[in-house]
Amino acid sequence: MDVDYQQLLDEAMAAALALPARGRPADYIPALASADPGAFGMALATVDGELYGVGEWQRPFSIQSVSKLFTLALALAEGGESLWQRVGREPSGNPFNSLVQLESEQGIPRNPFINAGALVATDRLLELTGDAAGTIREFLRAESGNGSITTDDAVAASEARHGHRNAALAHFIASYGNLRNPVDSVLAHYYAHCAISASCADLALVGRFLARHGLRADGSRLLTRSEAKRVNAVLLTCGTYDAAGDFAYRVGLPGKSGVGGGILTVIPGRGALCVWSPGLDPAGNSVLGVAALDALTTATGWSIF
Ligand code: DON
Repeated sequence: MDVDYQQLLDEAMAAALALPARGRPADYIPALASADPGAFGMALATVDGELYGVGEWQRPFSIQSVSKLFTLALALAEGGESLWQRVGREPSGNPFNSLVQLESEQGIPRNPFINAGALVATDRLLELTGDAAGTIREFLRAESGNGSITTDDAVAASEARHGHRNAALAHFIASYGNLRNPVDSVLAHYYAHCAISASCADLALVGRFLARHGLRADGSRLLTRSEAKRVNAVLLTCGTYDAAGDFAYRVGLPGKSGVGGGILTVIPGRGALCVWSPGLDPAGNSVLGVAALDALTTATGWSIF
C-alpha cells in the first residue's frame, strides 16, 4: 500500500471535529431531529476491495437523498437515456425541496437530485421494475455484501406524515403528465428508499461502482463507462443542491448528500468515500462531513481537478 489510508481518515476526522461549528440535524422529518450533531463516521472503500474507517463508520444512519444517486443509476441502467426527456441535468440554484421552477418549466424538474427530479426518477424505476424501493435496497445489499440493509419504517412513516411538500411536488408533476404511476405509490417508494438505513462502510462499498466506471462488485456491468462518467458529472454539478459550487470548490469530487447527514463521494479510479455527521448547513449538507472531505482532498490532492 503506497498510501496510508487509515492515517488520512484519522487526520480528516480530527480536522473536522476541531471545528466549533456543528450545524443542526434535519427537524422537518421528526424521526431525524434527535440525532447528535457531534456524531461522526467516515469510510473509504478502494476499487481493489480494501475498506478503511474511522469514528462511527459502521453505524447505520438514514441515507435520505443519498438514495437518489442509486435511483438515477438504476433507472438509467434499466431504462436508458429516455429518462432525460422527463428530467433535466442542470443545477437548480434552489433548495432541494423547492417548487418554484416546476411551473415555468412545465413539470420537468431541473435535475434528478432535487426532490422533484428524484420523484420522477423513482416513478421511472417503478415503471421499469414494479418495485423501486425494493430494487434500490437489493442493489445496496448486493454491492455492500450486507444483507441486513433495510428501510426504517418509522422514518418513512414520519416523513410521510409531514410530507406536504413532496406530495405537492408529486401532484404538480402529475398535473403535467410527467408521472406514470399513481402519486401515492411514487411517494411511498420515494419515502421508502430515502428511509433506508446503511452505514458509511456500506455506502462506500456500494459507491465503488462509480469509481469503477460502471462495474458492479461481482464484475458485471451496471452502467457503460460513458454512463458512469455522466452520472458522476450530474453528481458533481447537482449532488449537493445550491451548494454544489461550494462543494466542488472545497472538495472537488462528485458527491451526493442526504439530510440524515451522509455524503457519498466518488474518487474515480481509486474508490468511494462516505462520511456521516448529522449536523447540517442551511443547504442540507453535513457540516462536519464537508469539512472532513475538504481536509482529506486538500491533503491528498484527490480532487478531480
Ligand atoms: O424528501 C426529503 O425531503 C427527504 N426524504 C430527502 C431530502 C434530502 O436528503 C436532501 N439532502 N440533502
